[in-house]
Amino acid sequence: MNLQGSTVLVIGANGVFGRLTAEKLMAMGANVIGTARSNESAANLPAGLAQALLLDLESAESIATLTGYLSTSGVKLDAIINTAGVVGFGPAATTSASDAQKLMQVNHLGPSAVISALLPVLAQSEREPVVLSITGVVAEKIFTGMPAYTASKTAHSAWLKALSPEARRLGIRVIDARPGHTETGLASRAVFGVAPAFPQGMTPQHVIDKVFEAIASGATEVASTDF
Ligand SMILES: NC(=O)c1ccc[n+]([C@@H]2O[C@H](COP(=O)([O-])OP(=O)(O)OC[C@H]3O[C@@H](n4cnc5c(N)ncnc54)[C@H](OP(=O)(O)O)[C@@H]3O)[C@@H](O)[C@H]2O)c1
Repeated sequence: MNLQGSTVLVIGANGVFGRLTAEKLMAMGANVIGTARSNESAANLPAGLAQALLLDLESAESIATLTGYLSTSGVKLDAIINTAGVVGFGPAATTSASDAQKLMQVNHLGPSAVISALLPVLAQSEREPVVLSITGVVAEKIFTGMPAYTASKTAHSAWLKALSPEARRLGIRVIDARPGHTETGLASRAVFGVAPAFPQGMTPQHVIDKVFEAIASGATEVASTDF
């Protein structure tokens, strides 16, 4: 896919992966529509976005507002890159149902709803449109102490795989990117629990460069071992 002149929705463009993604897209000449969850966190959106929009993946109303706007505003969308997500730590026995639900909503159900609603818009693209979501190595192998995070990421990874043939019929390529631990500080922002001591992770730029290689190469996944 040629990103120059394309229009890309970056979900979570104010996060570490999201900002790098948006900045790289803009450097390549893409028009970036970036989202943040709240007015406060929107302060971390990068400069130069074509549009800055609010999207709270925990709110059905927010999802409907964003997808409704993008479906009716005449915006031509060529790619969706989902870089939003939250992590939480702790054994199943001490993870509350509401905490587990939050991870499933933000990491899987919310982005799936946004992507599903925008498939008809993406299908109009003449640039070999792409959906890419950053899931994670936990969708490939089990790490103890994070069952709720593992479940949410595994669900999203499986959903992307199941979406693939349906999307392909619309001319849309789906990419599941599953990086391992990366030094974005995400673990220190856990919405519950305390992170175990991870070994030194990858640099965020390395991960995002691999993601862009996948977009350019026609790949449908970036396995943890590809990073
Ligand atoms: N860092 C790693 O080691 C690693 C490894 C594998 C996969 N990942 C995945 O990569 C993604 C990005 O992580 P990161 O490391 O870049 O973390 P980050 O800097 O904390 O970014 C998280 C992003 O998610 C957004 N977000 C959180 N809750 C949201 C909600 N309810 N609605 C909409 N957006 C919401 C945040 O927006 P606000 O600030 O506006 O809330 C922010 O843009 C996550 O899905 C993470 O699981 C990370």
